[in-house]
Amino acid sequence: MAYINDNFIKIPATYLFSEIAKRVAQHKTENPEADIIRMGIGDVTLPLPDASVDAMITAANEQRKSETFRGYGPEQGYDFLRNSIVENDFKSRGIDIEADEIFVSDGAKSDTGNIGDIFGLQNRVAITDPSYPVYVDTNAMGGRAGEPSASGQWTNLIYLPCNMANNFVPELPKEKVDIIYLCYPNNPTGTTLTKEQLTVWVNYARENNAIILFDAAYEAYITEENVPHSIFEIEGAKDIAIEFRSFSKTAGFTGTRCGYTVVPKSVTALSENGEKVSLNKLWLRRQTTKFNGTSYVVQRAAEATYSPEGKKQVRALVDYYMENARIIRHSLEAAGLTVYGGVNAPYIWAKTPDGIGSWEYFDYLLKEKNIVCTPGAGFGPAGEGFVRFSAFGIRENTIRAMKRLEK
Ligand code: MLT
Repeated sequence: MAYINDNFIKIPATYLFSEIAKRVAQHKTENPEADIIRMGIGDVTLPLPDASVDAMITAANEQRKSETFRGYGPEQGYDFLRNSIVENDFKSRGIDIEADEIFVSDGAKSDTGNIGDIFGLQNRVAITDPSYPVYVDTNAMGGRAGEPSASGQWTNLIYLPCNMANNFVPELPKEKVDIIYLCYPNNPTGTTLTKEQLTVWVNYARENNAIILFDAAYEAYITEENVPHSIFEIEGAKDIAIEFRSFSKTAGFTGTRCGYTVVPKSVTALSENGEKVSLNKLWLRRQTTKFNGTSYVVQRAAEATYSPEGKKQVRALVDYYMENARIIRHSLEAAGLTVYGGVNAPYIWAKTPDGIGSWEYFDYLLKEKNIVCTPGAGFGPAGEGFVRFSAFGIRENTIRAMKRLEK
């Protein structure tokens, strides 16, 4: 008889966005004529930048000829992409990161989920509440979260509430923690930390021998000056942080799949016998064993986002979605809702009217307005009473949805 990993029984039976997709599909079946506007999952709607598509075509043609054909690539990514990342995402900001500290992957979702493989089960893990559900679910699957409780919290996780009272800036934990997930610009609230606020966390991690897992998937959407694009802009972060980046939201790669993780060689954690071990080495070992690299064609597409025309096209995508964000913010405010985010992020976090529950408001918007949002409670107990709107839609649909809401 084979046995399952019982942790899978403890987590919710369906992933948040699968549950939403199920409810939307059911509504569509019951109302085939419904003109549904999707502002739920943060999936992009504009096509890939031309520079990336052209690079994919060239790369695909190389795969046609034996002289240029490529089989297995390096698991951690081709040098051409790793070097472009170093130059454009880090050196250009005065950050000293080396190519062998970059691990190219199929996206930040996989990496933020898989990173738990290299950490012991005894670690005390802190997460902001609300947060991207992958952090909690994968810690639960791995056996590091303890048991789910009636409050919606897991017994072994330390929750860092982000709410209106603290302006969505988490306070340092009262008890000692070993691993801290931070996502800024934040999914789902769309809020940010300033350099000074992030410095507090870096200093905490340094003083407490903790590791920060910093998800920067939305950094391209930052518009304000004092908001860091990378945790490595903060002094001392290279000793305590791992950073996750994604081409999904930046360049429209949600279906194409490419991201990368930065594991500086100076980040270490302890083995059971007290020895300091390099996390770069462990992640390399993990990736070379369990991952065979992102496809060559896709890595060429990602590289092309750093070409002069690629940069312009990516900027145009980001600007388009941020104009949507502005429209959504403005309309929701006009409709009398209290809103956050949408200034440095493509998400708008709105307080539900009259204290209605998140799922209740989600159902109301779906059934009465044919608008799909994401219920805040799906991101954690502190998300109750909020819903999230994604700015990744087509402009026309965004405007139509807001008109429906204003009514
Ligand atoms: C979201 O809507 O939160 C994101 O699209 C999820 C993801 O990036 O996996």
